[in-house]
Amino acid sequence: MPRLVRIACAFAATTSLCKAQNLAQYVLPNMGDSNGGNTFPGVSLPFGVVKLGPDLYTGSDSYSGYQPTGNFIGFSLLHESGTGGAPKYGVVAQMPVPGTINNPLVDLGVNRSKADEPRLGYYKSSLSNGITVEMSATNRAGMLKYEFPAGQGASNVVVDVSHVLSSYRGQGLGQSYLGGNISVTTTDASVRYQGSGSYDNGWNRAPKWTVFFCGYFDQPATFKTFLGKDATGITLVDYDGSSSQGSQARLGAVFTFNATSVTSRVGVSFISSEQACTNGAFQNHDDRHIQRD
Ligand SMILES: *[C@@H]1O[C@H](CO)[C@@H](O)[C@H](O)[C@H]1NC(C)=O
Ligand SMILES: *[C@@H]1O[C@H](CO)[C@@H](O)[C@H](O)[C@H]1NC(C)=O
Ligand SMILES: *[C@@H]1O[C@H](CO)[C@@H](O)[C@H](O)[C@H]1NC(C)=O
Repeated sequence: MPRLVRIACAFAATTSLCKAQNLAQYVLPNMGDSNGGNTFPGVSLPFGVVKLGPDLYTGSDSYSGYQPTGNFIGFSLLHESGTGGAPKYGVVAQMPVPGTINNPLVDLGVNRSKADEPRLGYYKSSLSNGITVEMSATNRAGMLKYEFPAGQGASNVVVDVSHVLSSYRGQGLGQSYLGGNISVTTTDASVRYQGSGSYDNGWNRAPKWTVFFCGYFDQPATFKTFLGKDATGITLVDYDGSSSQGSQARLGAVFTFNATSVTSRVGVSFISSEQACTNGAFQNHDDRHIQRD
């Protein structure tokens, strides 16, 4: 049962009413997300820090990340709903990619195979390469469940710290990636990465600000970290088994799984990556499974 209905029913006088009705079915998370409404259709709790949803590239501005057309370029945890002007956020991203990745800095965008499926507290994207991404969120954490099709080679998830929603309107309001860091630790059963990214500008013309992240995968993985030559280009300087990177140039990590079903939890914080780990670990504790109502 979706969280909101659970909470409403916890305070209701008669539980029989709650059992009989599923009010979540009346919520339209995608209201206003097309034709210039720019609302955010992904998952978030009321007033939640995290708004987890897809980032689409169409050649013009994707203010809330979402667009009904275009290519998925990532699934990120922070978004703004309902502004025009210029995109804001679209950071702390993951991108699932099948097969061998020779350069994670190139455009990894991929089309949809069908319209996204937004529900209260749940969102699903179906990629044209057969990968599906299901999402859920708590206040300061997101959960992403990937299903990779068999027969397409390895299952990868790319974490590109330089990923941010760009502006294409030439008004000087585009966000910039200013640098970051990432470190990876693995066990026989799982993977963890943590770090931070700094960015500026966007619709509110912000000075430099930093978000910290901490991500887990529930499957064993091999990984490579990567480092670009600069903050925007696609030239690779490092792409190897180093467990950490820190720079003002583009950086991140590629995680490679033999499993075809992989679930990730990612916490965010504006204070520290340690707090992001706490947010990612405990806020999802009772919510390990992504469920549709
Ligand atoms: C992307 O996918 C949609 C939905 O399947 C389709 O209508 C559209 O033609 C595709 N676009 C491209 C450029 O292939
Ligand atoms: C990563 O960057 C953040 C923000 O600048 C900084 O607080 C932290 O010390 C850095 N971590 C490492 C390992 O360099
Ligand atoms: C996946 O399988 C390959 C080939 O058997 C192996 O080399 C690799 O270590 C495996 N990866 C993980 C994360 O177990």
